[in-house]
Amino acid sequence: MEKIIEEKKQGTTIKPNQKSGNTRKLYIESYGCQMNFSDSEIVASILSKEGFNTTSSLEDADLVLVNTCSIREKAELTVRKRLEKFNAVKKTRPHMKVGVLGCMAERLKSQLLEEEKIVDMVVGPDAYKDLPNLVKEVDDGRNAVNVILSKEETYGDIAPVRLNSNGVTAFVSITRGCDNMCTFCVVPFTRGRERSRDPQSIVEEVNDLWNRGFKEITLLGQNVDSYLWYGGGLKKDFKDSTEIQKATAVNFSQLLAMVAEAQPKLRIRFSTSNPQDMTMDVIETMAHYNNICNYIHLPVQSGSDRILKAMNRLHTRDEYFKLIDNIRKIIPDCAISQDIITGFPTETEQDHQDTLSLMDYVKYDFGFMFAYSERPGTMAARKFEDDIPHEIKKRRLSEIIEKQLAHSLYRTQLHIGKIEEVLIEGVSKKSDTQWRGRNSQNTVVVFPKENYKVGDFVMVQIDSCTSATLIGTALDYSENN
Ligand code: SAH
Ligand code: F3S
Repeated sequence: MEKIIEEKKQGTTIKPNQKSGNTRKLYIESYGCQMNFSDSEIVASILSKEGFNTTSSLEDADLVLVNTCSIREKAELTVRKRLEKFNAVKKTRPHMKVGVLGCMAERLKSQLLEEEKIVDMVVGPDAYKDLPNLVKEVDDGRNAVNVILSKEETYGDIAPVRLNSNGVTAFVSITRGCDNMCTFCVVPFTRGRERSRDPQSIVEEVNDLWNRGFKEITLLGQNVDSYLWYGGGLKKDFKDSTEIQKATAVNFSQLLAMVAEAQPKLRIRFSTSNPQDMTMDVIETMAHYNNICNYIHLPVQSGSDRILKAMNRLHTRDEYFKLIDNIRKIIPDCAISQDIITGFPTETEQDHQDTLSLMDYVKYDFGFMFAYSERPGTMAARKFEDDIPHEIKKRRLSEIIEKQLAHSLYRTQLHIGKIEEVLIEGVSKKSDTQWRGRNSQNTVVVFPKENYKVGDFVMVQIDSCTSATLIGTALDYSENN
């Protein structure tokens, strides 16, 4: 059930990563989106060259870094509680330094250092390569801050240290930042302009992961469908690029094909797709390559045209339905998931009903649902009063969650009786005699272990289900092993 309502993984610490000769200990905690978890792997890689090994024990740490999220107020409050805890530990370990990374660093800048005095270091998402200098500053007893946003930085040249890895699945970042300016969203302010990463470096990272035994990757970006490589630089400048740059540019569907062909047995996922940017080419590329999973995370936010407009989501309800119809026509068994916000300013009961009826049309497999949280500095905060009472937001949210639960059960049941390929990721949370993996549609499948092992692709007969988990029996290895 956690997949349906939970915010994406919160506050995960890490398994240690060791490099011989390193003497200092880094404790790093990540909050928020998958991109933050991926960025923490870049940070650990940069600091590994500076003599830091990671530790999972706060009490051992010389340096504590917390990679933060600003997307909703609650995310920031969670981080603030952790900072209080770190400061308490610091009282007994005065040489320990605390740094804030990620979106809160960018949003609050030196306020955390100078006014609140709760950290030693503030580093925005585009400044991680400056960490060696910033750590030196802090070592010398000075506060350190770098929150400069970049037009070029993609960290394409940094090989991430895989933290907390199951050795089977990994994230590969393909774009940074976002140009979409949805009115409720703080990301364009905290992560800057959209930049795409050199496809060659993406393919190299993917090949390296495959050679090290990984079996599934997720290509990550705030808005993967708007990926465009023409030699670097901002997307908005593409129109002024040379004819050669235009002719050799790589878009998202081409990147997908490159990655799928580079490693035909590697499973490929991607996140997140913005409906306004998703093209037929992408859907056709997904259908063409067996190793691209049949799953699209396609946030809609609202089912009301009026609210979509106020959110600056650049598609209508009807256009969204057409996209859904096309996906289902081209990939009939494609799973689709949503993000929905309830209680956006001015949302009426009718707007809310429009969201519920949109859900009825799509019948999403999964969903991530949130009550609107006003973020300072966003267009929505400047233009609208946060006028939907908390109680109403909560009631609408619970109606949406209830509907999603019913749809998830409906979708999960459709798998019963089928034989599906499952990639084993680890031991079932409920029973250590069972494996846990996922099918192409991203649904969790559990089945008896027999002689299979983590990282195997197994054909599983699906026998029954709960609302979000399939239960089955292994039949044989898949030919994709
Ligand atoms: N494109 C991004 C979206 C990041 S934010 C991605 O890669 O996932 C993830 C989700 O958080 C959004 O889709 C939206 O549903 C929700 N969200 C963003 N800002 C919000 C706010 N101010 N209040 C409530 N939910 C919000
Ligand atoms: Fe945020 Fe919209 Fe970009 S939700 S991350 S501004 S696509």
